[in-house]
Amino acid sequence: MGKDVIVACDFPSAEKTLAFLDRFAQCERKPFVKIGMELFYGAGPDIVREIRQRGHRIFLDLKLHDIPNTVKKAMSVLRDLDVDICNVHAAGTVAMMKAALEGLTRPDGTRPLLIAVTQLTSTDQEALEKDLWIERPIDQVVMHYAKNARKAGLDGVVCSPLEAAKVHEACGADFLAVTPGVRFADAGADDQKRVMTPAEAKKIGSDYIVVGRPITAAEDPVAAYERCVKDFVDEA
Ligand code: C5P
Repeated sequence: MGKDVIVACDFPSAEKTLAFLDRFAQCERKPFVKIGMELFYGAGPDIVREIRQRGHRIFLDLKLHDIPNTVKKAMSVLRDLDVDICNVHAAGTVAMMKAALEGLTRPDGTRPLLIAVTQLTSTDQEALEKDLWIERPIDQVVMHYAKNARKAGLDGVVCSPLEAAKVHEACGADFLAVTPGVRFADAGADDQKRVMTPAEAKKIGSDYIVVGRPITAAEDPVAAYERCVKDFVDEA
């Protein structure tokens, strides 16, 4: 898989999501779509099938985290939805990530890509120490979790674009860095703390950027999407 822009469809219903995707009907490139918890829990697996049937690639962002056996069984259900990328929390341990991979692998050996969330970008150093009792610097924790994901056989991690280069250095160039926190230079950051433009994310080595509000809340979402593609995928 090459570089691509993944559109975070953070909508509360199937109707809103499909109406949004209808706007891209004339677009030459079909957006790669991220389905998160809100939409999945609200609309159920049928929304995944519907978007798939429309020909979109899908990142199913459900961030599984439970005992290995439960995660393995849940993944074996998700694998039949035929999505392109699934994810888990690296905090679930190497054993849990290995079990996830087993559950996701079909009898013929094929499977969606599996990536891990290292530390959520909403967790800062203070929360790490006070709430989680993890006393190391957060960037070291992120890198340790990324290495654990690699050890478990996963394909990459979700991380801040600022960490993408370090992840590649520690885990190899083929280990995917999927990065949210992307904003256009001429726009606000919303609640994202550390942001980069699509062009900067490309330069630093992100493999996929996950973009939500800069596209979904734009006056012209198709133009905003095409701008991301131009800056992140097309330009040398
Ligand atoms: O609207 P915005 O571009 O900020 O959306 C980013 C998307 O990436 C959201 O769906 C958000 O949940 C997700 N995400 C994130 N930071 C993480 C992991 C996921 O922003 N660390």
